[in-house]
Amino acid sequence: MKILKTTKELINYRKSFTCNVGFVPTMGALHQGHISLIKESVKKNDKTIVSIFVNPTQFLDGEDFTTYPNKHKADMKICELAGVDTLFMPDSSEIYFEDEPSITAPIKQSYILEGYQRPKHFDGVLRVVLKLLNITKPTNAYFGKKDAQQLFLVQNMVKTLFLDTTIIPCEIIRDENGLALSSRNAYLNENEKLQALNLSKSLKIASKEIMRGKLHVEAIKEKMKEVLDSLHVEYIEITDREFGQIKTVELKNSIILVAAKVGKTRLIDNIWI
Ligand code: PAJ
Repeated sequence: MKILKTTKELINYRKSFTCNVGFVPTMGALHQGHISLIKESVKKNDKTIVSIFVNPTQFLDGEDFTTYPNKHKADMKICELAGVDTLFMPDSSEIYFEDEPSITAPIKQSYILEGYQRPKHFDGVLRVVLKLLNITKPTNAYFGKKDAQQLFLVQNMVKTLFLDTTIIPCEIIRDENGLALSSRNAYLNENEKLQALNLSKSLKIASKEIMRGKLHVEAIKEKMKEVLDSLHVEYIEITDREFGQIKTVELKNSIILVAAKVGKTRLIDNIWI
């Protein structure tokens, strides 16, 4: 596995690939969620590039940018074992310039839900993803449904800026208790881990209601609230798959999303209905 730290090296090395290239952008502290994306890429492409870059522009003031978990040694081993060809681990100075043109995320879909809680977060996400796609020029790029709004906005950017990459959505990976894996789970103590299970529990309750034919959005949200009572809930929403408001669940076209703080840790989860 090649480990590259400069964009120049990666751009040059990428030129030697004449085959299908898969790309998995990450911020590191890799877990089975990331590994599932990497494995999918390795399976479907001749070469796989993974990036580890904790992107400063997508963190708001007061968020965990400076304390974001760093597990570079373990991450390198994981990538090597998973069959990654190239691991890109740039410094910020390799990615950002002092004065540069920049992309802003579309207003309508980036200032709701996650974007309402974290204004400008998606500007930072799209800014770095666009740069990374330009550097790696992948045939396919892999994104988790765990970050449903991010996935949607990246797909939208690829479509509207006519980028020559196919975005492949990947299923959410959970632990044996149902907790969606996240690098930020590392912040949780044992008691908080138990409390965090209420996020996925609330989604299970919602899907049970739907299976019983109860499709009324407000009624489902009320049921979910009962389980999430002990947490600091930031939002519970049921939308269509383009994040538009709906009053009744549309089967095969809805997403149920929840964000809550457990102690100081902010967690998100969702289920596609
Ligand atoms: P990060 O949080 O490291 O996630 C990298 C990728 O892994 C994302 O596409 C995310 O949706 C996916 N992922 C995380 N947890 C997952 C899980 N439990 N199951 C399936 N996939 C999961 O998302 C980012 O980094 C950044 O915003 C990034 C896209 C790298 C831009 O900086």
